[in-house]
Amino acid sequence: MENQGQVKSKKRVTDHGEVYTNEREVKAMLDLVKDETERIESRFLEPACGNGNFLAEVLERKLNVVDSRYKRSQFQWERYSVLSVSSIYGVDILEDNAEECRNRLFNLYKSRYSSHFKDKCQEDCLRSIRFLLNRNILWGDALDFTNPVTVSTPFSRQV
Ligand SMILES: C[S@@+](CC[C@H](N)C(=O)[O-])C[C@H]1O[C@@H](n2cnc3c(N)ncnc32)[C@H](O)[C@@H]1O
Repeated sequence: MENQGQVKSKKRVTDHGEVYTNEREVKAMLDLVKDETERIESRFLEPACGNGNFLAEVLERKLNVVDSRYKRSQFQWERYSVLSVSSIYGVDILEDNAEECRNRLFNLYKSRYSSHFKDKCQEDCLRSIRFLLNRNILWGDALDFTNPVTVSTPFSRQV
């Protein structure tokens, strides 16, 4: 997992309570639901996902399972890895956090995919991952289900 500071600025802490959880706590907390983190299709929603500390670890764990079962078949690896991404959801009220989270999960996926299949990686597969992350990691207020710009539009109805 990327090792980043726990605070970006004093203002962000005051305005949004933005203090990131460190890696050791993330792992310890996810160990409390270890079986779920190792189930490929298990659904996770982080309603204050920040830059994705929890979601990245969940994805790592799911992909470890995909690797252990399907690494010998690219087709199966792609199929189950897409399933693992499609069941991960996040929301953050700060736009840059949602974007950072999407990129982080995408890069994590891409580096794992490329390390296994190198020049056989399919652009279509990566496009699907990007699409899923754009759909599932949202910029919005998890308390009232609105997007800060289009305040009247619940983000469940955004396209
Ligand atoms: C304490 S940080 C935790 C971030 C991440 N979950 C972690 O553990 O590293 C809280 C996060 O919630 C976001 N946040 C605060 N109020 C929110 C709201 N109403 N809806 C969605 N996200 C919110 C902040 O922008 C910040 O990224």
